Amino acid sequence: MDVFRVTGNGPLNGEIEVGGAKNAALPLLAATLLTEETVTLRNVPDLSDIRFMVEIMRHVGAVVENPEPGTWQVTAKQLTHIAPYELVRKMRASVCLLGPLVGRLRKAEVSIPGGCVIGPRPIDLHLKGLSKLNCSVSVDRGYVNVDASKMEGGPVFLGGRSGSTVTGTANIVMAAVLAPGTTRIECAACEPEVVDLCNLLVQMGAKIAGIGSPELTITGVDKLFGCTHSVIADRIEAGTFIAAAAITRGDVTVKGIAPNLLGAFLDKLEEAGLPMEVRDDQIRVLPYLGSLKPVDIITLPYPGFPTDLQAQMCALMAVTEGISIITERIYPNRFMHVPELQRMGADIAIEGPSAIVKGPCKFSGAPVMASDLRASAALILAGMAAKGETWIQRIYHLDRGYERFEHKLAGIGGKIERLSDKEMPKELWAE
Ligand code: EPZ
Repeated sequence: MDVFRVTGNGPLNGEIEVGGAKNAALPLLAATLLTEETVTLRNVPDLSDIRFMVEIMRHVGAVVENPEPGTWQVTAKQLTHIAPYELVRKMRASVCLLGPLVGRLRKAEVSIPGGCVIGPRPIDLHLKGLSKLNCSVSVDRGYVNVDASKMEGGPVFLGGRSGSTVTGTANIVMAAVLAPGTTRIECAACEPEVVDLCNLLVQMGAKIAGIGSPELTITGVDKLFGCTHSVIADRIEAGTFIAAAAITRGDVTVKGIAPNLLGAFLDKLEEAGLPMEVRDDQIRVLPYLGSLKPVDIITLPYPGFPTDLQAQMCALMAVTEGISIITERIYPNRFMHVPELQRMGADIAIEGPSAIVKGPCKFSGAPVMASDLRASAALILAGMAAKGETWIQRIYHLDRGYERFEHKLAGIGGKIERLSDKEMPKELWAE
């Protein structure tokens, strides 16, 4: 298996380009099943999650081609309605095939995705939404079975205990666009990735009003058509690069991102006193002397602070003088990065859904273990600010959501190498 060797190498400097958003590309790929015409998606990031999604789409019968890097062409003429456990378990976001299969075939049998280290990943709201569209939904032997022969539009409230649901909203929208009648979704997710999905569906001929708001009104149509669409920029990748620049006191311009996609994150960095130059399609982080100021953060659905940037902020606040309280309202136990940051010298205490981060710490390189996608990024950030070498194992987590991460960081002066675990000093091997 691969490992990363990260060596603290001083401030990062230069320009870095943001890629297409993983969390937009996955539902966009699923949406291509809603028409038998060819849909072309551009600016799709090259990630293992994308390759898993393509594998499942081919399994249900779609013809999926990759004529050039970043471009995927899907033609879904004949589809079957079953997405099997052995494929779905590899990537839980494949649950967003449920909506298109229901919308297109009026039936679906999709394995219930497992949980993951950041917490249980229920889909009760997805199923509630389909029931509200007059579908008959049952769960049997780990599969969701949907009979949508009598599906029709109707009112759907999609709020749950943590607020809105991103892929739940995606699923209900993708079922409703081909459902007779009108569907009104209340407490819909407003994430930019959901907006991108709705924009693709409208390009395909769907009728959706209220895009970007918590209330979506969908008027069903008989058929959707092929088109070409470019995936929006990845705001979480952009935020990760910005945090990398900040933690190393670097001078880095993150290009290809609209700042409004990062509202709450940039607001917190401004509160912390990070000098930045914000333009309409790039953000430049500037060097600073002394320390940033501590901040209190609560993760919330968009436009609140994104849970996917929580771990990165933990690492940044660990080197910041003062006490920061970071509360996780979306996935209360999404703190797997904390014990590993502690191994590197961070002073963080977990109190219920909050991390109490006392800084500044002086990170020192250590062998650490990646546990999930965003935790892996936080460990790399800490490694770049640390004295000495940090060996990060299980970096397959990172490859799920960051394209060419080590190359992009090395391009701005980061000392990070992808090696085989055989090259890791024996004394550093995890038990
Ligand atoms: C999406 O996951 C993202 N993944 C996640 O990014 C992101 O953290 C999450 O949204 C929140 O922003 C993709 O888009 C592929 P949710 P999703 O349904 O849709 C609860 C990353 O690192 N809930 O919005 O699965 C749920 O338990 C990943 O890129 C229910 O209770 O998240 C959570 O507490 C990690 N019932 C909250 O809602 C449901 O039926 C938000 O979940 C569905 C969700």
